[in-house]
Amino acid sequence: MMREKILYSFTAIFDSPDQVSHATEKVVEQGYTKFDVHSPYPLHGMDKAMKLPPSKLGYVALVFGLSGTLGALLSLWWVSAIDYPILIGGKPLFSFPAYVPVMFEVTVLSASIATVLAMLFFFFKLPNNAHPLHGSDYMKKVSADKYGISIQADDPKFDEASVRKLFESVHAKEINSIYWDNEELTHKHKIFEPKFLTFLLIVAIISSGTTYFTLNKLMFMLPFNWMMEQPKQSAQQESLFFSDGFGMRLPVAGTIARGYLPYQFKGQPDVAGEKLVNPIPISIESLKLGQTKFDIYCSPCHGYHAEGDSRLRGQFPNPPSLHSEKIRKWSDGRIFAVLTDGQNIMPSYTTQLSVDERWSVINYLRALQRAFNAKESDLQ
Ligand code: HEC
Repeated sequence: MMREKILYSFTAIFDSPDQVSHATEKVVEQGYTKFDVHSPYPLHGMDKAMKLPPSKLGYVALVFGLSGTLGALLSLWWVSAIDYPILIGGKPLFSFPAYVPVMFEVTVLSASIATVLAMLFFFFKLPNNAHPLHGSDYMKKVSADKYGISIQADDPKFDEASVRKLFESVHAKEINSIYWDNEELTHKHKIFEPKFLTFLLIVAIISSGTTYFTLNKLMFMLPFNWMMEQPKQSAQQESLFFSDGFGMRLPVAGTIARGYLPYQFKGQPDVAGEKLVNPIPISIESLKLGQTKFDIYCSPCHGYHAEGDSRLRGQFPNPPSLHSEKIRKWSDGRIFAVLTDGQNIMPSYTTQLSVDERWSVINYLRALQRAFNAKESDLQ
């Protein structure tokens, strides 16, 4: 059955860019809106002559960008303040500044993905890639060395006679009519064809199957499991070797691991003060190390010069100055007892500072004390 041909548009061919822009102005003057201009290369000012409105893609970017911002904000708020509240460093659960980078990223991501998809599938109408102008003589000419205008038949002002008259009045070299391809009119979306759907299904099955096989089977096969399964005992692992089944063992009774000599004066600071001797001689290295560690671990409460000028603005009680008569008279061992055991509300520093580092901090503290109470002879 042969259908009647349906008109798509009237086209006119021109020889020079000047002619085509003059003709375009006339077309706009006459009030046509559904038309297009074709040229082998971009013509400057043509968008103005055609009175093209700015692209609508900006609105897509705006709407999806803002919904990205809002979506990120809402999900962060829901996750961190409602569903799984975790206190981090005393910050409020809804901690806006921390969300800003995430919100920014999600905004950019959703705006850009939405613009690309809208451009391809909404404005360009993919996967349909046919157009009545494609393959026409008109298109061949305007992509080589001619310039053309095509006024669509669905333009509300379209009328064969007047369009023809308009084209003649602007000295069109050729006037042609373009018809819809019958096949195209009856064309259905290819993506819904059973063949294509079967293809998609097969791709999905193959890719999920191989992923499953790789991650759940292959990785556990020889030789891919060599890194994972080593003949060694990991922390918390069960042991078949020991009768109690524990992999982690206590040290043999009466032994001490290297570097873990237990502190013998727990709760007896005065005994520690009498018995402990500072094993680290005063040297530039020891003072430097002591200064670094003091500035990191002690200065927030005691101040950089141990004057008791805390930087914590009342979040923790201010400690006394360490330049007091009492502390200057204390032995190194007595101060070591404070750093090791803590004192009242001051916590122990054994996990932050090794034994040698604690002694170096004490050396540095001695230097500070001497600087604050310098004798005349120190200045010479
Ligand atoms: C979290 C705050 C804080 C930090 C950090 C801190 N201290 Fe203290 N420190 C205190 C407070 C508070 C006291 C007073 C405790 C008391 O009431 O006996 C104190 C007491 C002391 C004393 C005994 C003072 C006295 O007059 O009895 C010494 C010595 C001392 N600190 C040394 C240090 C050194 C060295 C460091 C770094 C390793 C350090 N502190 C880190 C809060 C701190």
